[in-house]
Amino acid sequence: AELQHRNTFGVAARAPWLVSIDDAAALPRALRTGPLNDGIALTLGGGSNLLFAGDPTGAVLELSGRRIATLGGDGEHAIVRADAGVIWHEFVMHSLAQGLAGLENLALIPGTVGASPIQNIGAYGVEVRDFVHAVEAFEPASGQWHRFDNAACEFAYRDSRFKQSPDRYLITAVEFALPRAPALKLDYAGIGEELAAMGVSAPTPRTVADAVIAIRRRKLPDPALLGNAGSFFKNPIVAAAQAEALLAQYPAMPVFRGADADTRKLSAAWLIDACGWKGHRDGDAGVSAAHALVLVNHGGASGLQLLDLARRIADSVHTRFAVAIEPEPRIVGARW
Ligand code: FAD
Ligand code: EPU
Repeated sequence: AELQHRNTFGVAARAPWLVSIDDAAALPRALRTGPLNDGIALTLGGGSNLLFAGDPTGAVLELSGRRIATLGGDGEHAIVRADAGVIWHEFVMHSLAQGLAGLENLALIPGTVGASPIQNIGAYGVEVRDFVHAVEAFEPASGQWHRFDNAACEFAYRDSRFKQSPDRYLITAVEFALPRAPALKLDYAGIGEELAAMGVSAPTPRTVADAVIAIRRRKLPDPALLGNAGSFFKNPIVAAAQAEALLAQYPAMPVFRGADADTRKLSAAWLIDACGWKGHRDGDAGVSAAHALVLVNHGGASGLQLLDLARRIADSVHTRFAVAIEPEPRIVGARW
């Protein structure tokens, strides 16, 4: 199967098999027979957070179920269950149309519901962990079905137990607990300014989603026009003392709070920008001219060319700032 149109970088890749399973209940049997019997080389959603640096060496599995159901809840929350194959942005819009709040800041993130807990998708001050009620998954190695509650998912910034062990758990559905009463988060990265520019004085979840969509369209390249996987690196978490030492040297450097008092989050975009990479281009592999954290494919770049560029970027950031930056997307067919 040709995978060039199944990854938002648009790099060429092929797999011996691409198997779509719509009904998760059929999964155990499908894994005992046919092409999946030899194991799964890759579980593929929208392909918006991976880089094919080589071809998957075995079958690629897609969980394509797209049902959405409201399971109940209480006066404060509704529990909504969505199959892995539901498009994330469509789920956000569906939940808002049902009068449910919470996901508005996560509008327009590409990809699927099934991938959303993998790296605990986040944007504009919200992470999906804030609303995940449970994750349903099948574990091929044990033949077991699992239901992970929020704590069992081990969520952290761009991380979870699922991201730590790729393809160990096949996520078939996610349940979300969505509040009926909005608690809008407007303090982050220009949402307030955007709402004001839109002439909105009494924001609702829907208008906040519109503001987030407008900001994202301005800031991030559209993969349909220019191949990319969003942020290529995670924002690095460093010791507070290191952040302070860097800040003394580079007073303009952005520093955000970390998960605890001893750590800080730095801006990978700023570090990369400071090393002069923004808009850089080697053949068709490049760095977005709009955002230094986004690697782009100008057309014919291979995954290996993009990976090579990423390594040189990370090396230069390390040499200049002594900070290690790590890729956010899954790299298929090579090691970081
Ligand atoms: P894929 O890329 O197909 O897969 C990603 C990983 O998840 C792979 O390891 C894959 O094996 C695994 N996987 C996928 N589905 C399953 C499943 N059902 N079961 C088990 N494993 C599975 N991310 C953010 O967090 N915040 C952002 O603001 C953001 N902005 C982006 C903007 C752009 C323009 C782009 C291109 C990407 C952006 N991303 C962002 C990254 C990406 O959208 C998310 O990581 C998204 O959740 C990936 O979903 P996907 O279905 O495309 O996953
Ligand atoms: N900046 C630069 N140069 C640039 C771009 C940004 O110096 O070219 C600096 C600016 O100082 C800016 C800061 O970097 O204030 C942060 O930039 P931005 O607000 O764009 O956020 P980010 O940290 O680069 C993160 C997520 C995004 C998410 C946005 C919005 C990560 C790795 N990335 O980006 O997620 O959409 O915040 O909340 O945490 C993704 O994961 O793929 C992704 C796009």
